[in-house]
Amino acid sequence: ACGFRFRVFSDGKRCSTSKVVRKPEVLPESKRQGTCQRKTFVQEQADRLEQANNSILIKCPQKVNQHQLLKSLERHGNIAHYHFFEPFKTMLLLQFERRDGVLSVQQSCNMPRPGKRFLLPNRSRFLLMSKHNDEFPDKRSAENERPHNLLQMLKDHSNVDGQLEGLVQHMQLTEEDIRLRFLVCSLLQDLCTAILPSVQIQPFGSSVNLFGRVGCDLDMFLDLGNLNIERKRTRVQRDSSLEFQVKMFRCERVATQTILSVVGNLLQHISPSFDSIQKVLNARCPVLRFCHSPSNLNCDLTASNRIALCMSETLNAFAQVDARVRPLVFAIRCWARAQNLTSTVSGAWITNFSLTLLVLFFLQQCSPSVIPTISHLRKLADRIDHRVIDSVNCTIVSDLSKITPSNNKQSLEDLLHGFFDFYGSFPFQKKSINIRTGQVQRRSDDSPMEIINPFEENLNVSKNVNKRQLLHFVELSQNASLKLEKQHQLSSNQSWGLMTLLQHGPTQQARATDGAASIHPTPKVERFTDLFHSLWSTKQGNPEAK
Ligand code: CTP
Ligand code: MG
Repeated sequence: ACGFRFRVFSDGKRCSTSKVVRKPEVLPESKRQGTCQRKTFVQEQADRLEQANNSILIKCPQKVNQHQLLKSLERHGNIAHYHFFEPFKTMLLLQFERRDGVLSVQQSCNMPRPGKRFLLPNRSRFLLMSKHNDEFPDKRSAENERPHNLLQMLKDHSNVDGQLEGLVQHMQLTEEDIRLRFLVCSLLQDLCTAILPSVQIQPFGSSVNLFGRVGCDLDMFLDLGNLNIERKRTRVQRDSSLEFQVKMFRCERVATQTILSVVGNLLQHISPSFDSIQKVLNARCPVLRFCHSPSNLNCDLTASNRIALCMSETLNAFAQVDARVRPLVFAIRCWARAQNLTSTVSGAWITNFSLTLLVLFFLQQCSPSVIPTISHLRKLADRIDHRVIDSVNCTIVSDLSKITPSNNKQSLEDLLHGFFDFYGSFPFQKKSINIRTGQVQRRSDDSPMEIINPFEENLNVSKNVNKRQLLHFVELSQNASLKLEKQHQLSSNQSWGLMTLLQHGPTQQARATDGAASIHPTPKVERFTDLFHSLWSTKQGNPEAK
């Protein structure tokens, strides 16, 4: 579009293009058949972090001359990738081929004139562009825009399977969204390494597990490295009698709370890009909550959360083993959001993570099963995949081509219907679900709903869900099943398929009149068009439920 040619890396291949326009990833049939060779999750994470390390983010004036800007940046080093963010088009994310490019740009930057104020020097990789660059009319390319009309998209499809696949295309994180998320981790890491040199900030959760939708929160954890391993290495080198003087804490929790608190202060007082900082240090999993304002991402930072990263890897693997997994998970998450079953704040209601485990468990129960169990993924693991974190075995196979594709040929519509039937009559009082074994088992706690954490089996992922919310989930599942059954009797101008599921049904309205809505913090979504905004909004809540 700007008539400027750069070398661009695309999935490891080098190609030439005037602008990088990445289409959202579509899982091809070959992946469903398990024939596609891809990077492992760990390699992908490492490559993306490396990419982010060589990247900068620039806030440009609204009608920036892109050509001129890119040309001036190319003087600092070869550009590997760039993207002007839509719909605002005022942010440029640019990756240099080498880190030198970043350093050179930073050296050429000025500190702002403080005038009568005082400034704290901060040399981050988020840069502001002053206005003297010639302004050009905004050349927005339609090709690059995210389709905003969800309703129209659903109407355009002639069957439920098409609607579900369309929903993924519509809602999923694009390549650029993912790059931006890794860049935010990398910017945060720059700040943290000033005080903790070996620290790494890694994303986990929906940003990397292939179930993330636009606007979902960015979960990160602060990885201090494996200190025990470092200790063993120094022991081998017996010639050294020197050791570092370090602060000692009475337990890991106190150390974690202290680190998060210090990082919170850094963000609050030193970095202008992070705001709305909230320290939630007394939660079961202490967390620092904040917003990265240039990207408008709501972020959660925890520490020592490697097990959660393994969980993300596992969900990512399930998303890849069968192409039906993502459409189903997206549909159930959107349905739950539309029905006010999930919320932008945490509380006694079901979370997206629990819903995902419910979908996976259901797919394991189908006959033949659509996806394998975690135990099976563990059996296929090689020796290098072996991972035990804090005595918890998190091993799963990393080479996904070893997983035999399922013989199950059910359509997405069938499976969606099956999900609602299954949970509309599931004996939650007596049974819990476990995606490690793929089997229901006898309840081990007295909370209304038990979804066993696949890695830490003594933890119940859905412990926060109260009886009322569980009943509501069951009732709405029954309702959704009925709606799907009746859809064949509908006239052509009525909503059908996924459209009916994403609209509020009678149960929702009944609930609003009996006062239950007042205990639920999600604003009541009245019309279908509002749903789009509700699905798009970012998450803000407290992490007690994690
Ligand atoms: N997690 C976990 N056990 C829990 C809650 C969360 O292991 N009880 C891990 C999961 O790997 C989850 C991640 O923490 O994916 C992030 O949690 P959360 O943000 O609640 O879920 P997401 O999957 O990121 O979904 P969302 O899009 O709602 O943020
Ligand atoms: Mg999340």
